[in-house]
Amino acid sequence: MSTPALHETSIKALDSAWVRAQFPSLKLQVNGRPAAFLDGPAGTQVPKQVVDAVQNYFLTANANTCGAFATSRANDAMIASARNAMADFFHCDPDEVVFGQNMTTITFALARAIGRELKVGDEIIVTTLDHDANVAPWRALEEKGVIIRQVDIREADCTLDFDDLKRKITAKTKLVAVGYASNAVGTINPVAEITKLAHDAGALIFIDAVHYAPHGPIDVRALDCDFLVCSPYKFFGPHMGTLYGKRERLLQFRPYKVRPATDALPDRWETGTQVQELIAGIGAAVDYLAELGRRHDPSATDRRSALLAAYRVTHQHETSLLARLIDGLLAIPKLRFFGISDPKRFEERCSTISIRIGDHHPTELAKFLGDRGIFTWDGNYYALNLTERLGVEKLGGFLRIGLVHYNTADEVDRLLATLREFHAMHS
Ligand SMILES: Cc1ncc(COP(=O)(O)O)c(C=O)c1O
Repeated sequence: MSTPALHETSIKALDSAWVRAQFPSLKLQVNGRPAAFLDGPAGTQVPKQVVDAVQNYFLTANANTCGAFATSRANDAMIASARNAMADFFHCDPDEVVFGQNMTTITFALARAIGRELKVGDEIIVTTLDHDANVAPWRALEEKGVIIRQVDIREADCTLDFDDLKRKITAKTKLVAVGYASNAVGTINPVAEITKLAHDAGALIFIDAVHYAPHGPIDVRALDCDFLVCSPYKFFGPHMGTLYGKRERLLQFRPYKVRPATDALPDRWETGTQVQELIAGIGAAVDYLAELGRRHDPSATDRRSALLAAYRVTHQHETSLLARLIDGLLAIPKLRFFGISDPKRFEERCSTISIRIGDHHPTELAKFLGDRGIFTWDGNYYALNLTERLGVEKLGGFLRIGLVHYNTADEVDRLLATLREFHAMHS
């Protein structure tokens, strides 16, 4: 990965106490022990700012859009403000931000619209590393005669096989669908480079940034991508999805929509009534991150700079937890680690880890940890191409441990001690 904003020197250490005080649910206890939320990749906890914004919506702005009365106007203003926040988050213009139910639903709708313009024999590229939500919507176009080419991985470190990617991008390629970061093994793909490869071949690029969004800043302008999607519930917001679309692309493709709905951007892509109370929460989630950035770097005045400052400090924190976690995991006998483990290559990965221990079913491990208040995930987390490719699908997949900025070194140590206890009980 090359994200210059993350590599500046002299960054303040994360004020963990302040961060954790913003998240009321982190106080939860399970069987008399504090809950350790290491399940962030499936959805993060929300700061109280998000809870307040959703509540405030119902108290002051609960109406449909574009009415000639106060609560409707307040709702319109709130949606505009959340859209501005997401524009700062993506680094684009507000009319290039589309809200939707979740990433999966948005991607199916976009794929259907793009599919209207494709012909038999056109090709789309997907990858073995991706979540199925960035595979199945494109594979659905096979019904129309579109050919799907799937790029393989290098098994040893779970990175994309670039030679295979370069071979598969040809003049027939119409779109490359690739993830920014793997929700299973944490690999960060060089999406700027892939965008250039796609564009040089005359193809569009669609980036699934769902897993990357809580870990690093997104800059659609610098990437020059055509589409990029992420889900606020993975970056401290509510359960929704958001799409960035380059203006000319959002105008070029024709969404399926009802006739009375406007054809203006971005409305033509936002079918039906949105979950407006949650859009209020999205704006608050972005503002929480900006507030975090300003606290650690008071020189960050505008929201975009404050977001970049936030990611600088959270990245540093997550990387130190990651080093501690991997170090401890690799010392556990019979533990199989998937993906990049060399600290010198940490810029190529984020703080999401998948493991197996001996022949133990990952559900057994997740339950052992869960009963002790440690929340992890087991299975394939819909990264089905990957679990099949690595031969673990039939064995129950992996155990996933996800670290985000509200996690602590104590939680990592507790997890490691509990895994060692599990191993000792079963050896
Ligand atoms: C990398 C990745 N892409 C896509 C999705 C699907 O997102 P959504 O739940 O918003 O449909 C997920 C959800 O886990 C994910 O991790």
